[in-house]
Amino acid sequence: MSTIIESLKWRYATKIFDINRKLTDNQVNTLKHSISLTASSLGLQPYKIIVVSDHKIKKSLFPHSYNQLQITTASHLFVFCAIEKIDDSYTQEFIKLMSKIQNKSMEDLHGYKSMINNFINNSDDGAKLLWASKQTYIAIGNLLTTCALEEIDACPMEGFDAEKYSEILSLKEKGLKVLALVATGFRSKDDKYGIMPKVRKVYSDLFVEM
Ligand SMILES: Cc1cc2nc3c(=O)[nH]c(=O)nc-3n(C[C@H](O)[C@H](O)[C@H](O)COP(=O)(O)O)c2cc1C
Repeated sequence: MSTIIESLKWRYATKIFDINRKLTDNQVNTLKHSISLTASSLGLQPYKIIVVSDHKIKKSLFPHSYNQLQITTASHLFVFCAIEKIDDSYTQEFIKLMSKIQNKSMEDLHGYKSMINNFINNSDDGAKLLWASKQTYIAIGNLLTTCALEEIDACPMEGFDAEKYSEILSLKEKGLKVLALVATGFRSKDDKYGIMPKVRKVYSDLFVEM
């Protein structure tokens, strides 16, 4: 049985995927599930993920991604976006969902709702976007680890033109700001990066024991 460390050693930022291998619906669902189960501040999940499998869309994103081959060879691109408008009505929807799932009255949740609104109303748009971005990267980390455990290859990517992505994926209309993406699929045998040793700091440079 493989250990998590073996899985994390197996993974690498894949540069070329095998265009003949696609993720199954089950695999895509497992990846979505891992994103959905990610911890987030106050439980608010202030992000949305566009899942692109359409080759035409991938082709149109390619020139705006420094021509990185991950974009056109990946099976699925998970495009991570922060939700731009986090306000009282966002809180209201969240509290409604919580009330339904946990079978609590809206009155019971009033204190929690006030706490969230207090946090939201004391942060400006820039602070909220930074906060939402931090939450988003936790989901990205979870996705990468899940991919490794499931033997699905992946590459986290920030090398793209956010404006162009926003245009092509109609993100402004959706109230979203693109942050990063994770290309997923299965490594191509032409990708030399998989066999390169990992470059990592020695523990004494990475950790401080106290
Ligand atoms: C936020 C983030 C953005 C990245 N952007 C890119 C990218 O645009 N293109 C790419 O090939 N790799 C990208 N990488 C992959 C890193 O270069 C890679 O994770 C790092 O060199 C360590 O190698 P490893 O993941 O193979 O162990 C990115 C990684 C992270 C975490």
